[in-house]
Amino acid sequence: MSGRSMHSVLLVGLVCLLIASSTFCSSVGSSNNIMCLESERNALLQFKQGLVNDSNVLASWESNKDCCEWRGIACNNQTGHVITLNLSSYPFVETPYLVGAIDPSLLQLQQLNYLDLSFNDFGGMMIPKFIGSLSQLKELKLAGANFSGPIPPQFGNLSNLHTLDLSYNYDVSFKNLEWLSHISSLRYLNMSGLNFSEVVNWPHSLSKLPSLIELQLFECYLPDVNLRSLLFINSSTSLQVLDLSENALNSSILHWIANVSSNFVKIDLWGNMLQGPIPDVFFNMVSLVSLDLSDNHFEGGLPKFFQNFCRLESLSLGHNQFSENIEDFVKTLSCAQNTLERLYLSGNQFGGSWPDLTGFSKLRWLHLSYNQLNGSVPESLGQLSSLKDLDLSNNSLNGVITEAHFLNLSHLQYLSVSGNHFSINLSSNWNPPFQLAELDLSSCKVGPDFPKWIQRQRNLISLDLSMNQIQGKVPNLSASLTNVDLSFNQFSGALPSFSPLSSVDLSFNQFSGPLSSVPPIYSVDLSFNQFSGSLPSVPPKLETLILSNNKFSGSLSYLCANTTQPPDLFNLDISENLLSGELPNCMMQFQGLRVLNLGKNKLFGKVPSWLGNLKNLWILRLYGNNFSGELPSFENCTLLFVVDVAANKLSGNIPTWIGQSLTNLHVLRLSSNELNGNIPFSLCNLATIHKWCGKE
Ligand SMILES: *[C@@H]1O[C@H](CO)[C@@H](O)[C@H](O)[C@H]1NC(C)=O
Ligand SMILES: *[C@@H]1O[C@H](CO)[C@@H](O)[C@H](O)[C@H]1NC(C)=O
Ligand SMILES: *[C@@H]1O[C@H](CO)[C@@H](O)[C@H](O)[C@H]1NC(C)=O
Ligand SMILES: *[C@@H]1O[C@H](CO)[C@@H](O)[C@H](O)[C@H]1NC(C)=O
Ligand SMILES: *[C@@H]1O[C@H](CO)[C@@H](O)[C@H](O)[C@H]1NC(C)=O
Ligand SMILES: *[C@@H]1O[C@H](CO)[C@@H](O)[C@H](O)[C@H]1NC(C)=O
Ligand SMILES: *[C@@H]1O[C@H](CO)[C@@H](O)[C@H](O)[C@H]1NC(C)=O
Ligand SMILES: *[C@@H]1O[C@H](CO)[C@@H](O)[C@H](O)[C@H]1NC(C)=O
Ligand SMILES: *[C@@H]1O[C@H](CO)[C@@H](O)[C@H](O)[C@H]1NC(C)=O
Ligand SMILES: *[C@@H]1O[C@H](CO)[C@@H](O)[C@H](O)[C@H]1NC(C)=O
Ligand SMILES: *[C@@H]1O[C@H](CO)[C@@H](O)[C@H](O)[C@H]1NC(C)=O
Ligand SMILES: *[C@@H]1O[C@H](CO)[C@@H](O)[C@H](O)[C@H]1NC(C)=O
Repeated sequence: MSGRSMHSVLLVGLVCLLIASSTFCSSVGSSNNIMCLESERNALLQFKQGLVNDSNVLASWESNKDCCEWRGIACNNQTGHVITLNLSSYPFVETPYLVGAIDPSLLQLQQLNYLDLSFNDFGGMMIPKFIGSLSQLKELKLAGANFSGPIPPQFGNLSNLHTLDLSYNYDVSFKNLEWLSHISSLRYLNMSGLNFSEVVNWPHSLSKLPSLIELQLFECYLPDVNLRSLLFINSSTSLQVLDLSENALNSSILHWIANVSSNFVKIDLWGNMLQGPIPDVFFNMVSLVSLDLSDNHFEGGLPKFFQNFCRLESLSLGHNQFSENIEDFVKTLSCAQNTLERLYLSGNQFGGSWPDLTGFSKLRWLHLSYNQLNGSVPESLGQLSSLKDLDLSNNSLNGVITEAHFLNLSHLQYLSVSGNHFSINLSSNWNPPFQLAELDLSSCKVGPDFPKWIQRQRNLISLDLSMNQIQGKVPNLSASLTNVDLSFNQFSGALPSFSPLSSVDLSFNQFSGPLSSVPPIYSVDLSFNQFSGSLPSVPPKLETLILSNNKFSGSLSYLCANTTQPPDLFNLDISENLLSGELPNCMMQFQGLRVLNLGKNKLFGKVPSWLGNLKNLWILRLYGNNFSGELPSFENCTLLFVVDVAANKLSGNIPTWIGQSLTNLHVLRLSSNELNGNIPFSLCNLATIHKWCGKE
């Protein structure tokens, strides 16, 4: 007993003496004094022993303590029975809390209401049958816990269950859902990531759950629905939330959806094979708050019955073949103008000029990129004061973008207007109302001066200013930057000292910015400018470094001057500069390299043999240097797709391993060297070769 509860028992006793009412006192005393049952404590200790590793999460599970006080446990305050066992770990981490087996001693916990063991690692063991005998269970969560084998039919006995989450146990297999249709109390079901490919009658089984409110079947290899079998389905009205995304389903699924409920609040169907116009099955679904039909093959426009959808907060139709006039589209949505927060229409063929969005005061996400919008954007855009995320890129919009377009956009974090025909007229002392995390102004004619207002964006993570004819030096930029594209400008001077290239700034390794749900990209592209001076050193997190077509000079050894751990670099292109010297051995550490382009510099010496250990290489270009001697063996670089060593001083025979090992080779350039001997017969094995030996 802890000191505190001892104290309260004493206190209650004192009060009892004073008021001398024994029935009152014994009930108060016992409710403060409830301890767990010995049998249940022992069962839990046995469960703990069945584990190989509990990452010290069960440190409080000591036999001399009340188990109701242990971490993850809650007891009934009248009977002392354990009613909650809540030991979920974090999703998809490398070191989950619990590793090992589930001891059947848990069967002792007959009053258990709530069992959550999600995201632990039970090493591929079968889901224990005995869980089906915990008859008081209301919630059972075993997501991502590395179970395999069948789902025990005994689960059908859990007649009090309202929540069942078996998602992301990728090795669980089953042929039917017979057991499931017995759990008529079920309200929330999640079987995402399980393999339904043999469960042909899944629509039928699920239609038998009269209380089901939410169904999550994301990425389940769901078989298509046979329309004839639908004739035997009784409609349910309870289902409100449905996620069938990433299942490659055909349009027959829509009939099931229409039959199963008309009370939907949220439907996710992205990543299927739905085609044709949006069908009438949605006609009655006026309660819809969120609809996601993106990544399908829908065409046409928004049906007129969407005029009755007055609760929509989120509509995602991206990456289909919709071709409606955007102004008509927005008119059809007018009933949702006070609710709509997210509108994702990117990657379609929406046409027409800028729609009237002025009433949509809650709009936060507006994605219209990769469509065919034309005309100018009115200054009323600047009144959409909730906007957080605006993507207009890659349309045919034109006209002048002014400060008025952003007047009240103080919440804006993401802005992309590239790939249009805008002219940007923002004064250099403009003080924008926002602090952006991402900015894409590619090919917006913002040069020749670097826009000063961008320097004042202190939270920028990602910046694309490519193709803008900007001149001069790169000024100091946000210290949060991880992803920069300044290619195709006229920048000059030494390499800017911005954060993605700073090897000393450790904060950038633990970066978490305002958009931290999206993993940051670590990439620098400064190609096609006039930068000079020596190369930078590659910090550990950098993935892409493109410095081609500049005037960088000196040795390659700067690249690994400060390398303390193997870099993540997979794309290194420093071609067409003035670099000289030999290939330094320290570059051996760049084991992740997939693309290595050193072409057209002044490099010389032997091509080192360690290059043949870079097993991930897809593309190797050494052309236009002064490399001499024989080529080392690349026989183990079997992913190689392009090998271009033309225009060097390489000598010796054409190696036979090229034809024998490099079966993925599409481009081989050996021309303008000093190679001799016969062309090895093995080269004829390479059916995919396009160019070789100077025949180009
Ligand atoms: C137990 O897990 C922790 C991390 O959760 C890990 O550091 C430790 O090495 C593991 N112990 C064993 C014996 O595997
Ligand atoms: C006992 O538990 C019930 C149900 O959880 C709760 O409503 C009640 O307030 C609890 N009583 C005490 C004294 O904690
Ligand atoms: C389960 O535990 C987590 C923290 O470990 C807590 O956030 C959650 O509310 C608990 N759930 C229940 C139902 O006790
Ligand atoms: C699941 O368990 C198997 C067998 O112990 C193990 O090899 C595998 O690494 C585990 N998988 C995950 C994702 O933890
Ligand atoms: C539990 O389920 C099994 C298999 O479905 C069944 O044979 C058994 O009778 C059920 N037990 C109870 C107590 O309902
Ligand atoms: C599965 O879906 C339920 C609702 O049906 C939800 O509460 C739960 O968080 C989901 N599980 C996972 C792992 O996402
Ligand atoms: C799903 O299960 C079927 C039948 O058991 C099997 O052929 C298929 O490979 C499985 N799919 C995946 C992605 O595991
Ligand atoms: C969808 O697939 C099912 C099963 O293969 C088939 O019966 C049905 O005709 C298909 N529906 C469409 C619209 O292609
Ligand atoms: C229900 O399913 C039947 C059978 O496929 C279909 O004919 C009918 O159109 C569906 N109901 C709705 C409202 O779509
Ligand atoms: C549909 O419901 C009716 C009336 O409730 C019932 O008689 C019939 O058996 C049900 N059909 C199916 C296939 O469940
Ligand atoms: C390596 O780090 C040192 C100390 O931080 C720094 O002075 C030097 O410029 C760095 N070298 C390169 C090539 O970045
Ligand atoms: C390629 O790999 C094999 C097996 O690991 C090894 O014996 C051989 O020496 C390697 N070849 C080269 C050129 O590194």
